Amino acid sequence: MCGIIAAVSSEEEVAPLLLEGLKREEYRGYDSAGVALLDGRGSIAVKKDVGMVRELEARHGVSKLKGQAGIAHTRWATHGGVSRENAHPQVSCDGEVAIVHNGIVENYVALKKALEAKGHVFVSETDSEVIAHLVEEGYEKEGDPVAAALAAANLMRGQYAFVALFSDRPRLLVGARYDAPLVVGLGERTRFLASDVLAFLAETDKAVFLDNKEVVELTPESLRVFNLKGREMSPKTRKETHVAWELGSLSKANYAHYTLKEIHEQPATVQAALAQDPEKVGEAAERITRARSVVLTAAGSSYHAALLMKLRLALEAKMRCEVVLSGEFERELPFIDEGTLLVAMSQSGETADVLEAVKMARRKKVGGVLSMVNAAGSSLVRQSDQSLLLNCGPEVGVAATKSFTAQVMVGNLMIDRVTGRESVGDPRRLGQLVERALESEPLMRELARRYSGRPDFYFIARGGHYPVAQEGALKLKELSYIHAEGMPASELKHGTLALIEEGTPVVVVAPNGPGYDDTISNAQELAARGAEIIGIAQKPHPVFKHTVAIPASNGTVAPVLEVVPLQLLAYFMATERRNDPDHPRNLAKSVTVK
Ligand code: F6R
Repeated sequence: MCGIIAAVSSEEEVAPLLLEGLKREEYRGYDSAGVALLDGRGSIAVKKDVGMVRELEARHGVSKLKGQAGIAHTRWATHGGVSRENAHPQVSCDGEVAIVHNGIVENYVALKKALEAKGHVFVSETDSEVIAHLVEEGYEKEGDPVAAALAAANLMRGQYAFVALFSDRPRLLVGARYDAPLVVGLGERTRFLASDVLAFLAETDKAVFLDNKEVVELTPESLRVFNLKGREMSPKTRKETHVAWELGSLSKANYAHYTLKEIHEQPATVQAALAQDPEKVGEAAERITRARSVVLTAAGSSYHAALLMKLRLALEAKMRCEVVLSGEFERELPFIDEGTLLVAMSQSGETADVLEAVKMARRKKVGGVLSMVNAAGSSLVRQSDQSLLLNCGPEVGVAATKSFTAQVMVGNLMIDRVTGRESVGDPRRLGQLVERALESEPLMRELARRYSGRPDFYFIARGGHYPVAQEGALKLKELSYIHAEGMPASELKHGTLALIEEGTPVVVVAPNGPGYDDTISNAQELAARGAEIIGIAQKPHPVFKHTVAIPASNGTVAPVLEVVPLQLLAYFMATERRNDPDHPRNLAKSVTVK
């Protein structure tokens, strides 16, 4: 989704910093990019184009542009096609105001009509352009940038984060956020506004997370924050946060792609996930135990991690527990009340549907919101009563890998506390088991070579392993663009068998333990119809054409070990098919619009 990076400096040229920030935000997914720089003579230069950030630089030499204040943007098209005109920054009629925006201005049609009636001329099809014109109007009327941003913000409906640059204010940025992220970075000489701390982390690790519905005025020396009514918030409410993510973890090291690097980080990240403050885990467990019912909500891979948690909560803790996709949350509303604990799970903490689910639950007076999030300081963390962090460092690859396994382990840790069971064991031992699961890499590469031309892939499993089948299918779809489905093995006869043809690859997750024999029978049924079975199991079986050996473990750790080869399979299928695994098509890392 769209990424914003803006910088204002007392002495530095900011163009190279903006360019670097744009590159750091590439993982969010985008189709065009642009910058606006304010030079010393008070004119705003805009360079924008369709394509990658490196193409923007190659075509327009952005890094050489002069200016100590600027805004930049990666665009993910929502309103209006992918074109240069629709790329950001968007500029006001008089060229005095330039803005970048992330989100959707839901009432832009009405606003645009009203502005056109006043003589404003629009050049793009975007909803965002209305912001430039609204701010221009406000600035003409009020003569004050913050008042202009406030006026615009108060007219807009929807969700947004925007940053404006004013041609006659050389050392000033004004930003606003409403249900979309915007973070301040406080460098020594240069200050930043960005969608994500990663965008400025190379320059400073000091961040100030804005609250929702706030407007910010930023200069190289000062930071002022206002609510939407224009009341200035006390600086005491603005705590500076030291962002603990190591910059080193932002490089690809020796790996060809971030995705592969992040898959390989998992022996360490599962251990980091378990390094939680025991008191906080106890507090979270207490919240769960006290609740009359637990509702888990998430999207994508986080949803699969939530499914695993639900199984344990229901079967072991005997809790009334539902898992609801955040985008479908409305249907759960009748059952939410003060006796419910909402557990929201999200790598980014910025997924619009998850945040909306929290909002809806709050309106229904939910008893509490507990979240499991990777990005400290994200909107979800701020909207929760308590958060447990995943501690797995920045996940740059668009497909969730290490954040999924971290979620599973943090969930396990918490549920162990609820049930009094010690299922997680020694973190170092867990790290070693994940190392062993990674030994499947050469085989997964070979399987990818063999099957990369197949049009369909199926993944089946039972019980606590079924979410792993779903996750394996999701990874494969996302990275290889091959049709894939994760099915409960028990449902095989209700549709899936009809789809099996000679040579159809089917991944069968069949670890030792309950359900093994039934799952093997299902594999036999598949093989009898021509399927080629890839068994994810502790031991070979004659029905498996290929056995991907995973180490033995107790049931709660097993999903982590089972999913690692499936992540590798998806990765190698992508590279076999010449797809870019770090930037899969039509996918965004942070789904910040509904
Ligand atoms: C899957 C993937 C997405 C995310 C989903 C939720 O590989 O990356 O489907 O899982 O967008 O994102 P978070 O966890 O940030 O809320």
